[in-house]
Amino acid sequence: MKLFLAAAALLGAATATAAQADGVFRPGALWPDDKGVHINAHGGGILEHDGVYYWFGEHKVSGTAGNVAQVGVHVYSSRNLTDWKDEGIALAVSNDPASDIVKGAIIERPKVIRNPQTGKFVMWFHLELKGKRYDAARSGVAVADKVTGPYVYQGSFRPDAGAWPVDVKPEDKDPAISFLARDHAGGQMARDMTLFVDDDGKAWQFYASEENHTMHVSRLTDDYLRSAGQYARVKQNGDDEAPAVFKHGGKYYLVTSGLTGWAPNAAKSYVADTISGPWWALGNPVRGTPEQQKITFGGQSTYALTLQRNGCTRHILMLDVWRKEDAIDGRYVWLPIEWEGGKPVVRWRDQWTLADMDKLPCDGPGD
Ligand code: DGJ
Repeated sequence: MKLFLAAAALLGAATATAAQADGVFRPGALWPDDKGVHINAHGGGILEHDGVYYWFGEHKVSGTAGNVAQVGVHVYSSRNLTDWKDEGIALAVSNDPASDIVKGAIIERPKVIRNPQTGKFVMWFHLELKGKRYDAARSGVAVADKVTGPYVYQGSFRPDAGAWPVDVKPEDKDPAISFLARDHAGGQMARDMTLFVDDDGKAWQFYASEENHTMHVSRLTDDYLRSAGQYARVKQNGDDEAPAVFKHGGKYYLVTSGLTGWAPNAAKSYVADTISGPWWALGNPVRGTPEQQKITFGGQSTYALTLQRNGCTRHILMLDVWRKEDAIDGRYVWLPIEWEGGKPVVRWRDQWTLADMDKLPCDGPGD
């Protein structure tokens, strides 16, 4: 019996390993974690800490109920980026009806960064209050001492209250014609978001604002807990959401989507010499068939992961393929970013490895 159990345990372990990705990215496929369960970290982002990658994302449940937060933010860990260990729920929804993050609220696109001064892990996310659709448009913040949590909710706000963007124009200050002016006192609407930590340690939030019409890039305070009131607009009335940001050769790159809810649309890309802009449009980063370009392989950007490999700076674009009728079944499309005429581009691959990425020319601007 003992022998049988030991053999069964061994077999179980072997099955769990074999079921994992084992160094191979398979865009759009089910992506089993160490327990063989499809990874549940949608709208996610990655933090590298002490040589380990942590993937934070929205924990979804089955059906359309999964489009609001029923559980919280899930975290996984990995050393090779394809085989992920379930580390549990990093930020749990609350049972207190008075809490902003009560079960049934919307908690989207969580991103975690580590503050070098305080040593704290700081999570930002897009928060919508329960039963209020997407009207609240707030930034939520939670903090932990340990990377996997538990994260303690700190509160929520609309960023940049009382501040004008660095590129403000006289007409932006007229509340009759400007959402920016309408929201000046109470803070700017903040929906789809990501965080970016620059080489100087300053952190920035990119958030879809002004009724989703204009994306803002907004500096965080030095403790990373609030917005600092210093912000700029990426492209006025650009209708951008789903920001994914990376830096390459001293320039800043941004990939976004258009505004079609859970349905995929064509991706867009931008470049800037300084993070506050001006940002210049580079067009659709997708290379492939017209259909692939029109719907971005069925996905929507969520994060750009930067890796230093063999003297080259590489980036992986992470996208979500949403399944709004069965949210838990949403898929992940991760693709290596390539360079074409100084522009970042992505091409479909049924499967690929980091070794495949290493074979791509290391010829981006600045390499
Ligand atoms: C598109 C956004 O990118 C998602 O994060 C989510 O907010 C959906 N819209 C909701 O329709």
